[in-house]
Amino acid sequence: MKLWGGRFTSRADQIMEQFNTSLPVDHRLFREDIAGSLAHVTMLVHSDLLTPEEGDLLIQGLESILHDIESGKLVIEGDYEDIHSFVEMHLTGRIGETGKKLHTARSRNDQVAVDMRLYAKNKAVEVMDGLQALIDSLYAKAKANNVIMPGYTHLQRAQVVTFGHHLGAYEQMFKRDKKRVGNALELLDENPLGCGALAGTTHAIDREVTTALLRFEKPVDNFLDGVSDRDYMLELMSDFSIIMMHLSRLSEELILWSSQEFKFITMADAYSTGSSIMPQKKNPDAAELIRGKTGRVYGSLFALLTTLKGLPLTYNKDMQEDKEQFFDALDTVLDCMEIMSKVIDTLQVNAENMKAAIKAGFLNATEVADYLVSKGTPFRDAHEIVGKIIIYCEAEKKAIEDLTVQELLIFSEKIDNDIYDYIDYENILTKGNKGLMKEVGS
Ligand code: ARG
Repeated sequence: MKLWGGRFTSRADQIMEQFNTSLPVDHRLFREDIAGSLAHVTMLVHSDLLTPEEGDLLIQGLESILHDIESGKLVIEGDYEDIHSFVEMHLTGRIGETGKKLHTARSRNDQVAVDMRLYAKNKAVEVMDGLQALIDSLYAKAKANNVIMPGYTHLQRAQVVTFGHHLGAYEQMFKRDKKRVGNALELLDENPLGCGALAGTTHAIDREVTTALLRFEKPVDNFLDGVSDRDYMLELMSDFSIIMMHLSRLSEELILWSSQEFKFITMADAYSTGSSIMPQKKNPDAAELIRGKTGRVYGSLFALLTTLKGLPLTYNKDMQEDKEQFFDALDTVLDCMEIMSKVIDTLQVNAENMKAAIKAGFLNATEVADYLVSKGTPFRDAHEIVGKIIIYCEAEKKAIEDLTVQELLIFSEKIDNDIYDYIDYENILTKGNKGLMKEVGS
């Protein structure tokens, strides 16, 4: 079941066959492999390297294989070296001798390169769609629940924000991610078919024909680079890693917020699990798995970077390892985006608990200082004064707004009755440029 063998006198060891085959991994490239071959055949006919009759026969054969794989009639299995061998050998099995002409002016090196570029192009669009779905989910949840909540730095309560603005931060991250994937897509849009094994071909082929048929922007400029470039996979996997990092940070917040300590949100039963021993438990497993799988996507990126780092030009079999890493990272990021969208869609926001947390955290302390500044106190002095007010409040177990004007006057003679209005949590959000946090825009 090999595409080569002329110069071999004995068979490969069984264990070597298993070690060498990529079919269990690259079977998913069958559509791209057949699309590449169909374009190649059309180009060979166009360039008078095949007769139109031969071209028709090859095209019919390739289309019948595609049809049978898609309908389940033809299962991709057996002792084939890779998907390219599987398709070509089935083609010859179906149409006879003409099948052996398919590989004219082509190598598996430019074949696998074009297959992977086509696959990456399609999947990059799917990732962008997944990101848009996530952005839409965040937007809808933010719009419906733009309630006041504590904002944090160092995981310490800091200042009041809105839930909409908090989720909006993630919307921004995923919008940038979408642009990044779009940029990668633009850069990878070059056709490596026609590079041959590494040095082009003596046949008078026309790379513009396959470029147009396969809808690439242009043919690659350099044959050696065309068959050995895997940058676009690394670039996409870097983008996937950044997406996962964003998903993981969001997961971490959802896990915290759904804890008994926060109770800011309640996750839907559909995306939670229970404990086999503790009957009361409801665990945020969806978010934890996303956070956990982030490591796996980073791992794939580093595995491929490491695989490629010492390779001389051009193709080396090491490169076959690209697919397992790329596919795993891709599948993981697609799954995680989908699950996260659903988790966001179904989570319940506990507005009252968020509000209660604001009351307990001196979240208007900065605005008390701003108030003093508005009365002419230099900010650094105002900061010091409010620090003293906080010590007093902690001793008295009171919030700043619960102190009387008499109590407040101990700290600054500039304080008046109008302070309560200034430091009211909802009012704070109408002052300065804070109105932005009340808007939910997408
Ligand atoms: N399965 C191979 C891969 O994924 C296809 C290319 C084989 N080329 C070769 N020269 N052996 O890299």
